Amino acid sequence: MPLLHISASPRDTLSHSRKIGQLMVNRLCAETTLEVTRRDLALTPPPWPDARFTEASLCPAEQRTDQHRRNLEVSESLIAELEASDVLVIDSPMHNFTVPATFKAWIDLVVRPNRTFRGTPAGKVGLLADRPVVLIAASGGPVGDRPPAQTDFLTPYVRYVLATIGLTDLSTIRLDSLLRGPEAVDRSEKAAMAQIDGIAAHIRDRLVRQAVAAKAPAEL
Ligand SMILES: Cc1cc2nc3c(=O)[nH]c(=O)nc-3n(C[C@H](O)[C@H](O)[C@H](O)COP(=O)(O)O)c2cc1C
Repeated sequence: MPLLHISASPRDTLSHSRKIGQLMVNRLCAETTLEVTRRDLALTPPPWPDARFTEASLCPAEQRTDQHRRNLEVSESLIAELEASDVLVIDSPMHNFTVPATFKAWIDLVVRPNRTFRGTPAGKVGLLADRPVVLIAASGGPVGDRPPAQTDFLTPYVRYVLATIGLTDLSTIRLDSLLRGPEAVDRSEKAAMAQIDGIAAHIRDRLVRQAVAAKAPAEL
């Protein structure tokens, strides 16, 4: 089963989100047979949604020219990678209260009308099959309900935008106050690590249920 591991921090070994994301992936791979596909948005940033992409994306599929189709190739390959995955792990820093620009570019390329969601009178409907997603979000300052915590536009935004394309099973791990000294980092990382087992158990149960459901018709 393919696991798509997406990382967005521009930092490498110093990145807290990458560290916890890797621990999450290792934990999932330790108990389930998963092949990991890497999508490193800092190493290989997706292109910005430019005029050619926008025109091709908004053009009805049956009217698209070969040029339109070429302009959608990167988007199509990112969507195919997403569609092929059974589990998604995304680790991301908070940049100015929300996702970094590279992660936003990825979102703009995969959240597409009449491809990954459809507009209806009742609102947008996701077109992808649901699958478990883990989001690890890291921020330098505090996040939470009490002042001086800042407003978190990252996790609610990712939850909303993934639900738009049909991915509603989102578990989140928040790492915060990472620029508040080593004790704060230690506290935040320990709290994050304590969540990994519970999330891994949830995903394992879901994958087992899916495997059983997929086998059932053949056994009837
Ligand atoms: C451009 C930029 C914007 C940032 N904006 C915020 C922010 O709005 N809130 C916050 O708490 N931290 C902010 N930070 C700090 C990072 O979220 C923090 O350093 C985090 O640990 C980065 O994740 P990483 O350790 O995985 O690289 C920002 C950092 C950068 C470089």
